[in-house]
Amino acid sequence: MQHAWFTESRFGMFVHWGLYSLAARHEWVKSREHLTDDDYQPYFDHFDPDLYDPREWARLAKAAGMRYVVLTTKHHDGFCLWDSAQTDYKSTRTPYGKDLVGPFVAAVREQGLRVGFYHSLLDWHHPEFPVDCHHPQRDDEEFKAANAGRDMSKYTDYLHAQVRELLTGYGPIDYLFFDFSYAGRQGRWGGKGAADWRSTELLAMVRELQPEIIVNDRLDIAGDFLTPEQYQPAAPLRSGGAGVLWEACQTLNGSWGYDRDNFNDKSPDLLVRMLVDSVAKNGNLLLNVGPTGRGLLDPRARETLAVIGEWMRLHSRSIHGCGASDLVAPPDCRYTQRGDRLYLHLFAWPMGHVHLDGLAGRVAYAQFLHDASEVPTQVVDHEQAADTTTMAGLAPGTLTLDLPIRRPEVSVPVVELFLV
Ligand code: GLC
Repeated sequence: MQHAWFTESRFGMFVHWGLYSLAARHEWVKSREHLTDDDYQPYFDHFDPDLYDPREWARLAKAAGMRYVVLTTKHHDGFCLWDSAQTDYKSTRTPYGKDLVGPFVAAVREQGLRVGFYHSLLDWHHPEFPVDCHHPQRDDEEFKAANAGRDMSKYTDYLHAQVRELLTGYGPIDYLFFDFSYAGRQGRWGGKGAADWRSTELLAMVRELQPEIIVNDRLDIAGDFLTPEQYQPAAPLRSGGAGVLWEACQTLNGSWGYDRDNFNDKSPDLLVRMLVDSVAKNGNLLLNVGPTGRGLLDPRARETLAVIGEWMRLHSRSIHGCGASDLVAPPDCRYTQRGDRLYLHLFAWPMGHVHLDGLAGRVAYAQFLHDASEVPTQVVDHEQAADTTTMAGLAPGTLTLDLPIRRPEVSVPVVELFLV
């Protein structure tokens, strides 16, 4: 199956990094605060991530159980992290003075991980990108009047040329995340979509340059996978009546770029449950980090990755290569499955027993995954009457697991069921 690596991986790292990391208050700071190019220039003039070490990012990703890493090559502010021949608004013209993408690609490959690029379709710096509903100068009538003659086709030529640079300058690229389309009139400013980006032509070029690449769904034309953002789908995603590849992209705290004063951190346990929940619904989780202006992951991000990594060290086979099961999991639980291995993930710890519909006679053996300790099972006669400690009221075909009172001390306890 094309893209088998993607469904085998299930878990990746998203990296949002650029000039906004210096502002350190969300990657949309330029738009949110209606900053002009001059207002934003100090971040360019002071961009010098002297502690940038993508090998450490890649090591942290791998230790967290992630199998691919996706870097923002250019975000909406238009700043390029590589030595593009199309512009001077790039890392090689900052005090740092070097390409950031090349070392990133080499470091990720060195760890045996897959390489992905994020590339913004929007560009709030390019002189031909017409002002629209998201542009920082959308309320500046004077600016808009002075820039009414911007030629979108020239910007689109620029976009295509830069994507070609990225897909010819760094060897095989496994994954591409374009961001984002907002076609149709958006209030009094107007949006942008497939026609503006010349998406069909762009995608054809991408496939010609990188035939094995997987491309997301934000070109306003069909892609290879859907990208639910900052929410967990309620069920496996479908399109045209068929299941589709999907990947939930999630933040540690609501912001993609480094956001210094944001303490709205998700707990590592919640993030592990989100990972399990995605796989149980045939999806991937792309978990974001926002390095600082020095190029490091902040201590909270490192700590969270380490806790997730500890769980993955013990439980990765219930994630990698797994997908949804046809069986319905008990309340507050999820199933992930790979062939004859079924994994019961317990999001809430029950009192003594958990009852598994339809599994009587179908399980050869059961054990906790974190320590391979046996989990006793029983099939309670569904016709027996309740009598003091004698259980009753179970549906025919139910398999009951006998659980210890004390919950194992892992983010999510998992019972591995060996199906007959
Ligand atoms: C949204 C955010 C953008 C971020 C992207 C990641 O589009 O606005 O800043 O890069 O999500 O999925």
